[in-house]
Amino acid sequence: MKVKADDYRNIVFFTGAGMSAESGVPTYRGRGGIWHQYNWEEYACQDAFDRDSEKVLKFHELRRKLILSCQPHAGHFAIAEMEKRHPGVFVVTQNIDGMHQRSGSKRVIEVHGSIWRLRCPRHGISEDIGENYRRHRCEQCNTWLRPDVTWFGDMLNHDVVDEATATIGGSNLFISIGTSGVVYPAAGYPQIAKNNGAYCIEVNPEPNEMSNLYDRTIREPAGSALPCLFL
Ligand code: APR
Repeated sequence: MKVKADDYRNIVFFTGAGMSAESGVPTYRGRGGIWHQYNWEEYACQDAFDRDSEKVLKFHELRRKLILSCQPHAGHFAIAEMEKRHPGVFVVTQNIDGMHQRSGSKRVIEVHGSIWRLRCPRHGISEDIGENYRRHRCEQCNTWLRPDVTWFGDMLNHDVVDEATATIGGSNLFISIGTSGVVYPAAGYPQIAKNNGAYCIEVNPEPNEMSNLYDRTIREPAGSALPCLFL
């Protein structure tokens, strides 16, 4: 059954690692997930960065290289197309890989940050795109720059979380794609959408603990489900 987008004023596509997995970017916990291969305590927490910044930056450069070798798929393009023809479309994503922007989406809220940005504790955030970082240290104060992504043990950026919560809380159609639904605050998003009376759809080949909250579940990969979801 096709969905008529014009019946909904505000539409949120909420995406997780499964959305990017279909492009070849590894998931976190699933089969082939990166935390089976790499120990996050060595590569993805502030302590690791404080111990050996260069090692952590090099690991992120490896991930950037891998991400750049992947391409957005038909599901990403379907979302970007929908944004062009509907003024109330937003993407809220847990992914840090910028794949939505590469497919043309503009209204993207990145709750776990972006691997394409670096952060100096004193001089703020700068965009840095490419396989290798242009610089590892801040030009102004020479401090190590850290990837602007949420690592284990990090606080989320409050402003971004507030924006995501408000956007989802105002949605009438909430479509969750490729997330296992276990990591908060994202795990609470379908309930927030439901509380606003949104119609909730899950796109995921596998069921999970949150699946029963959805009005409709589509057990298919995002790349085949999304292009034919709308009228
Ligand atoms: N289409 C849709 N869903 C898919 C596809 C696909 N082609 N392939 C896999 N999936 C689903 C899996 O069934 C699984 O439910 O994607 C989900 C991926 O789950 P996780 O790896 O747990 O990813 P996510 O929910 O995004 O994890 C949240 O945890 O480690 C942190 O910061 C990291 O953003 C990440 C967060």
